[in-house]
Amino acid sequence: MTTHTSPALPEGVSVEELERLCIDVATEASRFIRDERPERMGVAATKSSETDVVTVMDRRSEELLHRLIQQARPDDGILGEEGVDVVGTSGLTWVLDPIDGTVNYLYEIPAYAVSVAVVVGDAHSQGGWAPVAGAVADPSLRLVHHAGRGTGAWTSPEDRTASTAPIRLSVSAEDRLGRSLLATGFGYDPAVRRRQAEVLLRVLPLVRDIRRIGSAALDLVRVAEGSVDAYAESGLNAWDLAAGWLVVEEAGGVVVGAGEGAESAPGKALTVAAGPALVEDVRALFVTQGDVAD
Ligand code: IPD
Repeated sequence: MTTHTSPALPEGVSVEELERLCIDVATEASRFIRDERPERMGVAATKSSETDVVTVMDRRSEELLHRLIQQARPDDGILGEEGVDVVGTSGLTWVLDPIDGTVNYLYEIPAYAVSVAVVVGDAHSQGGWAPVAGAVADPSLRLVHHAGRGTGAWTSPEDRTASTAPIRLSVSAEDRLGRSLLATGFGYDPAVRRRQAEVLLRVLPLVRDIRRIGSAALDLVRVAEGSVDAYAESGLNAWDLAAGWLVVEEAGGVVVGAGEGAESAPGKALTVAAGPALVEDVRALFVTQGDVAD
C-alpha cells in the first residue's frame, strides 16, 4: 500500500463520519488527561513513582478511547500503544496513542497530545496500511487537528459550541534545506539515541535550526500548519504517526519512509514529512547520514 493511492473504505462508511468520530473520541481523551491530571505529579516522592502515575494516565486514556470506539463501531479493530490489540472484522483499524509526549506530560510542558487514526490494511505490517481519517487533540491549547482522506486538514476548537471557525492547514512552501526549520525526536533506547545524536552533529550545520518538541504527533501537525518546514525521526511506531501522517498529506505535504517498496511508507526505519519541494532532500539527508533504524 502506498501513501498516494486512496484506500477503499468498507461499504456504507463515509470518511466524514470516521473523521467526526476521531475528533469526538480524541477530544474526550484530551479532556480526560488534562482535567484528571494528578495535581502533584511533578513533585511525587521518587522519579519511578512519577513515571508510574503517567503510565496509569496513559492506560486510562487508552481504556477510555477503547470503550468509546467499541461502543460506536464494534466491528473495527483497535491497536493502541498501551497494549490494546483487537482484531476487527470490518477492514478498519483504530490506531491510538493515548498520550503522545509522555515526558512533557510528566513535566507539565504543554506539548503532548492524544492521537487517534482509522486505517485501512494491516496496522502491524510496515507499508501495509494507510490512514483514512485522524485527529490529534492538543489538551493544552484546547485544539484538535484533524483530517479525512480528501477532506483537507483543519484545526478546530475543542469546544464544538465555540464561535471560532476551523482553520485550514497548509504546509510551508520552503524548498531549501539551508533555510529549513527541522523538527526531530529521539527514541528511548540509549544506543538509538547515541546514533541519533551523531546524525544530528552532521545535520545541524546544514539546516536553519532544529526543534525537539517531544511529541511526534504534534511535530507532524507543525509540518501541516507550516510552523516548522520539515520533520524527520527514526524509530516511530504506527500510533505515533498514523493521524499526523494524514493531517500532513491533507495539508499538501508528503510523508515518506527510508526507501523503496514497503519502506517507502513512513515507519520504524524512518519517517520524513515536509512540503513536496523539500521532502526528498530531507529524506536523502537522513538516509545518507545514517539515521535509519534497523
Ligand atoms: C514519543 C514522542 C517523542 C518521540 C518518540 C516517541 P511517547 O512518544 O512522540 O517525541 O521522539 O520517538 O516515542 O512515548 O511520548 O508516546
